[in-house]
Amino acid sequence: MEGRINAIVTGGTCGLGKALVKTLLKNGCNVATFGRRPDLVRTLIEEVGNASLFAESCDLTNLEQVSSFLRKATIAFGAQDLIILNAGELGPTPLKSVKENSILYFRLVFETNFFSNVWLIKEVLGGRKSPIAIVHVTSDSASNAYAGWGAYSSSKIAMDHLLRIIQAEERVNMVTAFSLDPGDMDTEMHRRALPEDNPDSLKKPEDAAGEVLAEIWKRCGFNVR
Ligand SMILES: NC(=O)c1ccc[n+]([C@@H]2O[C@H](COP(=O)([O-])OP(=O)(O)OC[C@H]3O[C@@H](n4cnc5c(N)ncnc54)[C@H](OP(=O)(O)O)[C@@H]3O)[C@@H](O)[C@H]2O)c1
Repeated sequence: MEGRINAIVTGGTCGLGKALVKTLLKNGCNVATFGRRPDLVRTLIEEVGNASLFAESCDLTNLEQVSSFLRKATIAFGAQDLIILNAGELGPTPLKSVKENSILYFRLVFETNFFSNVWLIKEVLGGRKSPIAIVHVTSDSASNAYAGWGAYSSSKIAMDHLLRIIQAEERVNMVTAFSLDPGDMDTEMHRRALPEDNPDSLKKPEDAAGEVLAEIWKRCGFNVR
């Protein structure tokens, strides 16, 4: 694809999402993003100071807010070429076994990591007339059975499989859909999940963002400067 890429990154106000937003902007893309905490949205806008960024406070699990965000993003930059489903919910920490964890927490995690993403994808695919790439940020815990990671990991593997089904259903409609694992990164989520891990042994979100985007450019044939 030639020309300026219009991207949406969910949860682009800290961690990997923020690094993705900054790298996309450096690559000359238009980027629309959101997170719940308004202070983090303000900080991102201040740090970037770029007319190619649209950012606002929005909760992925609030369908009205997401719908309004998508409308504004389209008004700002036009139809989207790339959606990165990055926002993720770990659930309460310390992580608990399936037996000990409340069903409410399973629902909370699935609401963010699965149902809200399904809804966002349906909204985007519904009115679309041009090619689009949908990339889900997954985790190695989706394919490895780590004790305590029941809700998060099952929501990630459910989403991974859904993306494969969307790819099968929509390939003829110029949709590319897949999941990518960024690896273990030094972020807020990782610090909550595994506070004992040495940050020096973890990837910097900026490095992970570079790797994730390189893979997206390669698989989707985007021509990025
Ligand atoms: N860190 C790792 O080692 C690791 C490894 C493999 C995969 N991943 C995946 O990588 C992705 C990014 O993780 P991260 O480590 O960068 O996490 P993070 O530091 O916790 O950042 C998550 C981002 O998503 C936003 N967010 C979370 N829930 C949201 C909601 N309901 N609505 C809107 N925004 C929401 C957060 O902002 P607010 O809280 O203000 O909403 C924040 O901007 C996640 O999908 C995670 O599962 C992480």
